[in-house]
Amino acid sequence: MNILAIGDIFGSCGAEHTQMVLKEIIADENIDFCIANGENASGVGISRGNYDNLTDAGVDFFTLGNHTFGKQDVIKLFENESNIIRPANYPDGTPGSGSAVIKHNGVRIGIINIMGRVNINLSLDCPFKACDREIEKIKDSSDIIIVDFHAEATSEKKAMMFYLDGRVSALFGTHTHVQTADELVTPRGTGYITDLGMTGCEDSVLGVDKNIIINRFTKAIPQRFEYAQGRAILCGAVFSIDEKTGKCKSVKRIAVR
Ligand SMILES: [Fe+2]
Ligand SMILES: [Fe+2]
Repeated sequence: MNILAIGDIFGSCGAEHTQMVLKEIIADENIDFCIANGENASGVGISRGNYDNLTDAGVDFFTLGNHTFGKQDVIKLFENESNIIRPANYPDGTPGSGSAVIKHNGVRIGIINIMGRVNINLSLDCPFKACDREIEKIKDSSDIIIVDFHAEATSEKKAMMFYLDGRVSALFGTHTHVQTADELVTPRGTGYITDLGMTGCEDSVLGVDKNIIINRFTKAIPQRFEYAQGRAILCGAVFSIDEKTGKCKSVKRIAVR
């Protein structure tokens, strides 16, 4: 089966672009299931409205990251919807779940979300051990396992690839908003890419108005972030997975303007 993973959908620009192009990508790439990182769907966090719009656009499942709790709506989404999870290594007692298993066209798709600890200003449990725990929890009820590792450091993501090698069908990174060109399938059948990139305004600094960020760097004056508008890009990757063996056969990077 073909799984499309979409990198951080950023603000109204990213959400509208997804609504515009996703159905066509699903048809062209023969996509069976679509996972998107939604932590920036409403800029910081995800609202009920954005969740609904992106679901209508063709997103089957949402993962999150350091902006999980940016919008209060997410607590209700966790309570009422089975297709949205947050990083598993948030402290015990945090609302939401770090993994889920979704049955889709007869295939049991296990999805795990974890978050890095390098240069991310949050107190989190070890993502490696958290991922071990989630794999143990879902492996007997999953035909394939997909992991979104929301992390800043390429080293942490690459280390995770070797740590999970052969134990999961696919591992992709999110959070940096910049797509990497290192997609591969390991000899043990894990599909990997360090970062899917961003879905949002290309004429921006990681989705934010470029002049605000230039001012921040050149004058060190704090200024409220405004989300950029303009020419948009959808970044992600298609993982082709054999659902009988759980092994990944190929990874294809995509960037649709
Ligand atoms: Fe993030
Ligand atoms: Fe993000």
